[in-house]
Amino acid sequence: MFEVKTRDGLARIGRLATRHGVLETPTLLPVVNPRRMTLSTAEIRDCGASGLITNSYIISRHEELRERALAEGVHTLVEWEGPLMTDSGTFQSHVYGDVEIEPQAIVEFQRDIGSDIGTVLDVFTEPEFDAGRAESELAETQARIEAAVPLKGEMLLAATVQGGIHPELRERAASLVSGTESDVHPIGGVVPLMEQYRYGELAGLILAAKRALVPSRPVHLFGCGHPSLFALATLLGCDLFDSASYAKFAADGRMMFSWGTRRLAEMQELPCGCAVCSATTAAELQALPDDKRERQLARHNLLVSFAELRQVREAVRGGQLWELVVARAAGRPEVADALVALEAEGEWLEKWEPAFRPQQPTSAREPLRRFVQDRLHHAKTSSECYDHPFFGAIDQELADTAPLRPPGNVRQRSWTPERVHAIASYQFGSAAADALLKGDVELVTSRNTGRLRNVIVDGEHRLSLSARHGLFTLRAAGACVIHATCAAPQHRVVVHADSAEFNRQGRNAFCKFVLECDQELHCQDECLIVTESDELVAVGKLKVAPVEIALGQQGLAVKVREAV
Ligand code: GUN
Ligand code: ZN
Repeated sequence: MFEVKTRDGLARIGRLATRHGVLETPTLLPVVNPRRMTLSTAEIRDCGASGLITNSYIISRHEELRERALAEGVHTLVEWEGPLMTDSGTFQSHVYGDVEIEPQAIVEFQRDIGSDIGTVLDVFTEPEFDAGRAESELAETQARIEAAVPLKGEMLLAATVQGGIHPELRERAASLVSGTESDVHPIGGVVPLMEQYRYGELAGLILAAKRALVPSRPVHLFGCGHPSLFALATLLGCDLFDSASYAKFAADGRMMFSWGTRRLAEMQELPCGCAVCSATTAAELQALPDDKRERQLARHNLLVSFAELRQVREAVRGGQLWELVVARAAGRPEVADALVALEAEGEWLEKWEPAFRPQQPTSAREPLRRFVQDRLHHAKTSSECYDHPFFGAIDQELADTAPLRPPGNVRQRSWTPERVHAIASYQFGSAAADALLKGDVELVTSRNTGRLRNVIVDGEHRLSLSARHGLFTLRAAGACVIHATCAAPQHRVVVHADSAEFNRQGRNAFCKFVLECDQELHCQDECLIVTESDELVAVGKLKVAPVEIALGQQGLAVKVREAV
């Protein structure tokens, strides 16, 4: 149902299949209130939405809406043919103190009106509640989730993580919901934190949940609708957002931007290229009648939100999301608070760091710094060093290798066995590098560009160079050398015998067949596929973090390059 297409740390681009089409994540589901639509659903679609969320509690409490939804379906009711999520009334209980609905009845109602993704009636734990109250409410939410699962039918079920502001309870809640047969995991109870701009705490709570959430299901951040938060929330591993903010801000005369919020009344110019702003002026917008102005501001708010999401997704694809969050933090000090909170999580975040990214990092950050220090520690460095702005002293031989290449400075160095050794040592450790280069070394370079292509040792093709990243890929002969030199579990992904059969024929390995994994490996590392008796069957590139496999990820694990 949910397939992760691209990842960068905790962030991912995914595809969530629903009965009414696919959601490409991360994305925003704008809230439509069936009793008061600021914009028509067609207008919302034209602003870039591919899915919506509406409130089943409001529908169920309104006789005419309820009967129409039951007779014609909720899609017809809100005139929407795409993916449609419903919420349950939990938010109303937060606002009004109570709701008049039974937890199981609202799940059945969402199923019966044809919702694609229905939500349990979770208990909204307020930030001020102490750990004791948060814990008993968490138990009630979990009981409601377990009672909802048998009722969901064809509907995807959103099972919310609560736990208040207590990280250990968030982690426990995440572990409990992951154990149920539900499909989407919202982080709930965080609207007050967002309203109070407590982003540092918010980041800590999301990460606490992510420590135990099964990564094969999408994570929804309830009530996150400000474009300035999308980059940060995606960096923390959230996939879906929903909010009525675009309409609420518009009703209040406020315009949202990726860098903050402004009152239209206080603006002389519109610093925005959206379809609304490029066709009018601040003065013209200010002069519109109230209802027309509200609609134009709502359109602007949505257009800006979807433009930001496109930018976030491109940043994930390019490995530049952290840089985008840093840019957003420049406009919103609260986003910077969250980045500070992440420093304390460096040890765990390091496990999610990819071995290299499509683009070079242009900002320092704790998880990446830790990763690099750890790799350099295993490498045997010699010769001259240069001073990298984020990583400190780096061996000259590694100056064209990702992610150690200094920003903006690409130099051509000649290829020598020493340079090959330095890179192999950085990637595989010094013992493996010694063994890989022991013998008669031949460096095959391109006649036109002088770039290294292949490393042949004693007539065996052991390594190829990926010129773009300055890193080696392992060939079968190289894998055999590492296998013979480095003891298990180093560099290894242990697969079930059923998988080994296929991997031996050059086919890829999937997470569900992985029995064990070297925890020192990172996503994008070269790895050896072995059987339980440590028989080498193939070599390839790891496409997930070992921690992700341990948490229950599905899909591709190792892209096999060569069978052995
Ligand atoms: N909308 C905003 N916050 C919440 C929450 O915690 N639970 C549910 N179900 N909906 C919400
Ligand atoms: Zn605009």
